[in-house]
Amino acid sequence: MVKKIVLSRLSNIKTLSKKNFELYSERVPVILESIVNHFEQSMAKREEFESYLEQLFQYTRNFIETGDLLAALKLLTQVHETFESKLNKKTRLLITAAIAYLFAALGMDEEADHFLAESLKSSGAEITPCYVFNMTTQSMIALQRRNFNVAVSTSRRALNYLEKTKSGSPFSMRLPLSGPELRQRLTHIHTIASLELATTEQVGSGKRKTIFENALSSSRNLNAAGKKRHRFFYLCQQALICASMGYPSKSEDALEKAFHMLNANQDFLTAHGYYYYAARAVLHSYHSDFSSAYSDAKLAFRASFNTPDVFMELYVMDVFLDIAQTFSMSFPENRKNVSEFYMKGNSLLKQFVEFLEEKDWYTGKKHSHRVASLSYMIGKKMLTLFPYVQNQLDLQTLYLAAYVHDVGKLKLPWILINKIGKLSDYELSYVFRHVTFSRDILEKLNFRDIARIVFQHHENMDGSGYPGGTRDISIAANIISLADSFEAMTSPHRKYKEQKTLVETRDELSAMEGQFYLPEVIKAFRMIDLDKVDLSPEP
Ligand SMILES: [Fe+2]
Ligand SMILES: [Fe+2]
Repeated sequence: MVKKIVLSRLSNIKTLSKKNFELYSERVPVILESIVNHFEQSMAKREEFESYLEQLFQYTRNFIETGDLLAALKLLTQVHETFESKLNKKTRLLITAAIAYLFAALGMDEEADHFLAESLKSSGAEITPCYVFNMTTQSMIALQRRNFNVAVSTSRRALNYLEKTKSGSPFSMRLPLSGPELRQRLTHIHTIASLELATTEQVGSGKRKTIFENALSSSRNLNAAGKKRHRFFYLCQQALICASMGYPSKSEDALEKAFHMLNANQDFLTAHGYYYYAARAVLHSYHSDFSSAYSDAKLAFRASFNTPDVFMELYVMDVFLDIAQTFSMSFPENRKNVSEFYMKGNSLLKQFVEFLEEKDWYTGKKHSHRVASLSYMIGKKMLTLFPYVQNQLDLQTLYLAAYVHDVGKLKLPWILINKIGKLSDYELSYVFRHVTFSRDILEKLNFRDIARIVFQHHENMDGSGYPGGTRDISIAANIISLADSFEAMTSPHRKYKEQKTLVETRDELSAMEGQFYLPEVIKAFRMIDLDKVDLSPEP
């Protein structure tokens, strides 16, 4: 019997040491296999099956509590695929709903949508706990797609239903989330979506007021549930809503009360700290105090590491981006000198890259810097060897693009970035999306030239790359692609393969001339003193 799996002793997978994380990652596939095998055996004996099903959901909750949503997802999809025809309708419905929820919590909206449609189709219009669960998934997808109207109304509907059900509801059973957690998640979604909706221009002042009031009342209802953590959460929500409504002193009051609770428990780097700092960051940005907003966003980012909740982990990046965008719009004159403003000291793009380096264990601390230096050296060499590329290559833009090429990885869950072992198809397709995320982040901040280059950093000359498979690649993107591969292959931090020597790697990559890389890029690359990459100055 696979009773006590190692997970029960862990509180949060992200707080493991690198070594323990690797040990854990190796064990998980074995654990999953044995759970599925037992499931199959118990299917033969119907009376055992029901209790085993209960255990299956317990394992799923276990994985979710530790923050390993990928393992939970893998377990449920495997059961779904292998035993689909043998499961009864109710069980199938629950499993499908849970899969949809997990995809949504991981930020994989397309996959979530697919399973949600399947679950909604078979559940009909009946309002069951499963239905409310599906509403949560639906509102998370809507929020990710910035469809705030739907997110507000769906989360509202689900909350109304939850408020009517008393304690001892069937929510505690057989679902990856318990009733109170579901409620907190929904209230969170409802508030964020309401604030976004209320600040869009299409909303009239009357409607805006109603939206705010609804958000306040759902937050208040959560507070009435009486739990301490709900009260804390309520105070942070209240601070945000009041600030948006134009009541700064009420907002500061709420935040101060929250701070006292935080201070009493020394909870700064937990989920509580996360809510508090994220709220404070937003408040600072309302007051145009962007440097305080950035430092609070950074603290919220750090705190998000000590919570196993992937949804929060990904959301904190949206908070940071929104602040950065407001900043970028508020002071357009600052953007004139791109290098000065965005690269020096504690500047915006540097902070993004620092965030990334904290999150990604395996790419290595200096990856961005080394890719930028090498790209710059190759670019400079190309300009002397082939003066005709002059109007296609700007060294400063090349350096910046290379420095931020992987910034979109911030929108991938920690567990996916650091996963050891073979990635499944859906995981791989999600990792590929970092290119699109990088482009979107840079476009949002108005770096259109850089965004265009970065979008092609995994494309190849023969059309075998991603995301577009285009052959029409800019020189800058091709240089970054080469520098990126070179750095990854020679880095001591690599996850899978042996580290290679500089010369071996250079020859291996040069062999891809014409297939992956432009002949001119390879020619310049081969003339570079590779020992000097780290010493190369910034432009
Ligand atoms: Fe990349
Ligand atoms: Fe990279």
